[in-house]
Amino acid sequence: MNAHFAGRLAFISGAASGIGRAIAIEMSRRGMQVAVADIDLARAEQVAAEIGNASAVFLEVSNPASWAAALDQAEGRYGPLAVMVSNAGVAGSTDPVSQTSQAAWEWSRSVNLDGNFYGLTQGLDRIAATGLPGHLVATSSLAVINVKSRIGVYAAMKAGVLALCEALRDELAGSNIGISALLPGPVRTRLLEANASRSPDEVFVSRLEIQEGLLRNGLPPEEVAIMTADAIGTQEFWLFPNRDLEDRIDTRMADMKKSFRSAATG
Ligand SMILES: NC(=O)c1ccc[n+]([C@@H]2O[C@H](COP(=O)([O-])OP(=O)(O)OC[C@H]3O[C@@H](n4cnc5c(N)ncnc54)[C@H](O)[C@@H]3O)[C@@H](O)[C@H]2O)c1
Repeated sequence: MNAHFAGRLAFISGAASGIGRAIAIEMSRRGMQVAVADIDLARAEQVAAEIGNASAVFLEVSNPASWAAALDQAEGRYGPLAVMVSNAGVAGSTDPVSQTSQAAWEWSRSVNLDGNFYGLTQGLDRIAATGLPGHLVATSSLAVINVKSRIGVYAAMKAGVLALCEALRDELAGSNIGISALLPGPVRTRLLEANASRSPDEVFVSRLEIQEGLLRNGLPPEEVAIMTADAIGTQEFWLFPNRDLEDRIDTRMADMKKSFRSAATG
């Protein structure tokens, strides 16, 4: 992060816990003013208190009016937005795609995809209005690289988030606003607990042992936060904090390329 960002506002969604909380702490440590935005205001207030010089704001990411109100509140306190980290998300239902209810689909879509569309577009409008350097980050997932059974719906939304980021990267080329897509593999957070407590009544959420094990042994969120803060103000688009999982990309590329090779020889 360069000197352009010191003392300016970083707005982080889903900052009451896990990756968002760690990013909020790291951004503040690097001299930014931080808005800790979350649907869980009590926890957001605890994180803001822990940071000291930071504000908690209520945000329901699936509601565009809530984004506008939360951004107004944060800018009212700290001045114009410089960095938007659109990070809030839920694991959602783990039903196989073929058995996913409309309610489960809509919950995941509204938080994980709509929420990022509102965060990125409203964040960009406000940053662009300042004329100053800025940066956008959105949290996708490594799950989009190798989609497994039981995370199909989640990965569909996270693939959408990545597509939005790639398109924005193209739209912002040559401007003073950067963008990064964060694609974590397993990270040690409360994702599964928060998921269970947030799910609408009509959406059944199972706790898969395999998922719990992966997260328990995942990266500390602080490592993800350092990589994210390092990218602010740079051209670094791809943020893959789980360095040990690089082979996932090779596996996918090899699988896709096989089809080109067989078309050429066949
Ligand atoms: N933990 C992992 O292994 C992992 C891996 C890849 C991607 N991710 C993504 O990282 C992001 C952060 O998740 P985390 O792992 O830190 O989990 P977490 O549950 O610890 O934090 C997520 C935060 O988002 C908030 N949130 C949920 N729904 C919201 C809503 N509708 N409006 C506003 N806030 C809401 C929760 O209250 C919580 O504080 C998510 O987008 C998640 O999908 C996590």
